[in-house]
Parts: sequence; C-alpha cells; structure tokens
Amino acid sequence: MTQLERCAVLFVDDDPRVLQGLRRMLHAERHSWTLQFAASGREALACLDGGSFDALVTDLRMPDMDGVELLTFAMEHHPNVARIVLSGEIDPAAGFKTVRCAHQFIAKPCEAGALKTALTRAFALRRLTGDHRMKALLSRLQTLPSQPALYTEVMDAIQSPNSSCRKVGELIARDVGMTAKILQLVNSAFFGLAHRVGNALEAVTLLGTDTIKALVLGAKVFSQFDSKRIKQLGLDTLWPHSLAASQCARTISAAEKLPRQAQAEAFTAGILHDVGKLVLAQNFPETYADILQRAQLRDRTLPDLETERFGASHAELGGYLMGLWGLDEDIIDSIAYHHGLSRTAPAGPVAIVVYAANAMEHLLSAGPPEASTRSVDPAVLVQLNIADRFAQWEQCCRRHQQEVAEHAK
Ligand SMILES: [Fe+2]
Ligand SMILES: [Fe+2]
Repeated sequence: MTQLERCAVLFVDDDPRVLQGLRRMLHAERHSWTLQFAASGREALACLDGGSFDALVTDLRMPDMDGVELLTFAMEHHPNVARIVLSGEIDPAAGFKTVRCAHQFIAKPCEAGALKTALTRAFALRRLTGDHRMKALLSRLQTLPSQPALYTEVMDAIQSPNSSCRKVGELIARDVGMTAKILQLVNSAFFGLAHRVGNALEAVTLLGTDTIKALVLGAKVFSQFDSKRIKQLGLDTLWPHSLAASQCARTISAAEKLPRQAQAEAFTAGILHDVGKLVLAQNFPETYADILQRAQLRDRTLPDLETERFGASHAELGGYLMGLWGLDEDIIDSIAYHHGLSRTAPAGPVAIVVYAANAMEHLLSAGPPEASTRSVDPAVLVQLNIADRFAQWEQCCRRHQQEVAEHAK
C-alpha cells in the first residue's frame, strides 16, 4: 500500500485514557492506517482543516465543543470524511441529535473488532467511487425521498392510535428510502440491539412505536419525493419495480434454500438495489431525466451513461451510500454490483440472487417470456454458473406473481 492509499482516521475524545486505549487497540493497523488523535473539538477542527482524513471518530459529550457541533462542521466543510460517533451516551435526546449528522454510532466501551470493522468498511467503499463531488453529496444526505403516497400512509399510520407496529413496519418495508433509513438507525449502536437487523419490518418491531414516532415526527428521518418531479422523470415505476424485485429475491433465495439471514438480506437488497437512482433523480433532475431518456434509446446502457456523467453508476453510488450508513457488506455488494456482477470475484450468494432478481423483474414485467429475453445476459448467467437454475427461478417467480394476482382479486 502506498502512502497515498493509506487510510487516515481522526479520533476525538476529551478523556486522554480513551485516546490512549484507542491508540493501543489499533496499534497493529499503524502500517496501513494513519491515526491522529485530538483531545477536544477545537483541536479536531484544526486537524480537519490542516489534513486529509477518510474518517472522523468522535465522542459526543466534550466541554468546549460537543460531538454534534464537530460532526456538523465536518459535514459542511469536509463532507468526504465518514462521520462515526463513539460514545457511551445513553440519553435518547442527545442520541437523536446525532441522527442528522453522523453516519454511524458505535457504543463505548467498544470491542476492537467492532471499531475495526466499521472503519474497514468505510475505507472499502473507496472502491465504489473516487469522485469527490459525488462522495461529498452522498456524505451530506440525511434522508432519501419516499414515494409520496406511501409517505402519507406511513405518517397517517404513525399518528393513528389504532395502528399497530406491524402495520407501520409493513408500510415502511415497501419503500426504498424509508427502508434504507430505518436500517441505518436500527443498526446503529445507539439503540443497543445485540444483533444486526436486515429487514425493515423487524427493525420497526424492535424499535417500537414510541421510538419510531420520535424519529419520524421529531428527528424527521423521512422525506417525500416531489410528485410532479417523479412524473417528469418517468420514475413512477421505480417503487413497484423495487418491491417486485425484492419479492423475486425472496422467492429465488428460498428456492436456493439460503439461510434465513441471507434470505432477509436478499429481500432487503432487492428493495434497495436502485436506491442510487433516487439520489441522482433528486439531486440532478434535469441531467438525470436526459440520461434516462437516452438510455431508453438502447444504444448505451444506463450504467454507462451514468458513469460517464457522474463517475459511477446508480448501482455503485447506492452501494456507497448504504455502506456509509453502515449496512452489511452482503447488502452493499448486492446493490453495488446488480448491473455488473461479473466484475466481482467471487460473487456471494446474496449478490447473485439480487442480480438475478433485478433481471427477473425486468423480464416478468416486460410481458411474455419470448418477448423479453433482452433483460438477461446469457453469458453472465453462464459465468455465474446459474444458467440452468435461472429458468427454474423464473418458473417460481411467475408462479408467485400469479398467486399474488389471484389473492388481490
Ligand atoms: Fe439498477
Ligand atoms: Fe433495478
């Protein structure tokens, strides 16, 4: 690893024993990581302004400048830096304040493994995009816009005395932006859950109605897409496509008899796989409308056009954002490579399922099978060793689709 590729982390804590502990804990990483330590928020500001860091790991409660102030400064002035809270803070009001300025929250005291994993994941994201402008944009995003009708339904359900946690969870699980945000929050150590949560329904159930209310109504963790803009962009199909792809992912992973955890991750990655499109459509509406239109002419693929304009495709940008928000690696890879799985070696089972589920959904929604084979690249199926199974999966998914349609009658 060259000096330029070294990953640099700034740790901030007013307790010198904590900094000393971190120094000892990460001693083995000194050859590949540059570690710097600051004893106050003010000292950290000077370090940030004078250096180049990949991650900032800060305490919350500090005398002269607290962690929220420091994180907000970093978000505004050094957006390329991943922002991680390392705190023993258990006051919910203080914790909720970090929701809008930190990417991840790790509980103090922490195991060396948890910290190393969070940092290694943050550094690994550099493979997905090196474009500073896009990284800065993704790093500043606090919410992802939701489908307006679903957003309204969730708001109504949260405020209704008759709604159950399950009902709210089921609604959130149908939306791309709300699913992403709720998984970021539930997996942050602030809520103190002992295990990783891979799906939105379980997340809402574990957090409970009161916490969800405080997050949604108080911390405003959800937002909605401008409905006029959705029409202008022709994005109406994004949400149904994502939901249907997640159902295909569930059917395929069940047919493959993947472990339960992997099936849940495949379902979640299915709903989130096109999250990067939301980001691009929201932030570059005119340019992205033009790109979507050009992609329909079919002389260039959408990922190619996006890469030419933004330095990375919606798949890579979506994977980057979900990684920054601390989602699991299998989910990140599944999102990042759902258009170019052949580039990863070797592809994990969840990523293969999501690649197939996205292709399958395009195939199923395009009409009869013989008219819609364009969505699947046979060479990639052979390369992934799933050419035979893909036909079986297609049968399972078509059967499931018919059952759902029957049920809806
Ligand atoms: Fe996509
Ligand atoms: Fe897709």
